[in-house]
Amino acid sequence: MDTSRRILCVGFTCIDMVSVVKSYPEEDTDQRCTDYYWQRGGNASNSSTVISILGLPAEYLGVLADDNEGRWLRSDFERQGVNTDHCVTSDVGNCPVTSTITSEETGTRTIVFTERGLPELTFEAFDKVDLSSDYTWIHFEGRPTTDELRKMFQKIKKHNESREPLHRIKTSMEIEKVIFPELETLVSWPDYVFFSKEWSRSKGLTSKETSVDFYSKKVKPGGVAICAWGEDGAAGKTVDGDVISIKACLQTRVIDTLGCGDTFVGSVIAALSSGKVLRDAIQFGCQVAGAKCAIKGFTDLRQFGSVLKGSITGS
Ligand code: FRU
Repeated sequence: MDTSRRILCVGFTCIDMVSVVKSYPEEDTDQRCTDYYWQRGGNASNSSTVISILGLPAEYLGVLADDNEGRWLRSDFERQGVNTDHCVTSDVGNCPVTSTITSEETGTRTIVFTERGLPELTFEAFDKVDLSSDYTWIHFEGRPTTDELRKMFQKIKKHNESREPLHRIKTSMEIEKVIFPELETLVSWPDYVFFSKEWSRSKGLTSKETSVDFYSKKVKPGGVAICAWGEDGAAGKTVDGDVISIKACLQTRVIDTLGCGDTFVGSVIAALSSGKVLRDAIQFGCQVAGAKCAIKGFTDLRQFGSVLKGSITGS
C-alpha cells in the first residue's frame, strides 16, 4: 500500500448532536433521552475519517467557521489523523449543526439540519491545492455549487492530461441529496459516482441494480456507477461490464446508523485506491458499513484496515 500519497475529501462538515431515545415517540411526549453526545459529522468529513481509520493518509477540504465549534472540528479531524491544511476559515456564518434523534429500538435516525450561514467552498480555495504534490484520489461530496465543482474537475482533468496513467489522480463524487437536483449535470465528470437510494428513487429507479444500469450509461467513458441501497446492499457497474450486486452485511443489533452511507463511500474509495477490484471494493464497503451500524461512532472500524494492507496500489 502506498502511504505517501493522500486521499482528499472535499465537502462539508458540521457538529452532529445526537439524542438517543428508547423508541420514536408516536405522539407528543416528554420522553427522556437514554444517551446524548456530539461528534463531527458531514458526508465528506465522515468519509475522510473512515479512510484515515482504515490506515490510508486522508485530507479534508472544506470551510470551517471561526467559532469554538469550528475550532473543535479542526482539532477532531487532527485527532483522527485527517489533515486539514487547506481548509478555509470563514469569518462569515457559524458552524453548521444537525440535531439527530436515534432510536435504540431500531438504530435508525432523524436528522434536522441548520446551516447557520456558513458559505460553501469555492474554486478559488480548491485552486490553492497543489495537485502535483501528493494526491492519489480526490473525492467530492455533491454540494449545490455545481459551477464551482465543475471548475475543480476541470483543474484535475488538465492536471491528469500531462501525467502518465499511474500518476493520474482518480476522482469520485457522491450524489446523495435530492434537494440538490443540479448535481445530475456533474455525473459525467468523476471516475466513480456514488448514487444514494434516495436519489435513485427520485429518478424512478427501484433498485440498486436498475440505478447502476441506468447511470453507467451516463458516467464518463470508463467511469463506474455505484449505488448503496441500505439493507439491500450495494451494486456497481461500468458501461460495458455486468452489474455487480453485493448483499448487505446485516447486523443482529443495530446501534447507530448515522454515517453508514459515508462509511460505505469511504471504505470503497480506500479499497479501490489500495488496488482492490470493483467487486471486492464494494464487498468491503458493505462489510465495513454493516459493522458501523453495530457500533457508536467510527473508531472501532480500525480492525478492517488490515484487510487493505496486503493490497497493491495503482488500480
Ligand atoms: C450522515 C451525515 C451527518 C450529517 C448529515 C449531513 O450521513 O453526514 O454526519 O449531519 O449527514 O447531511
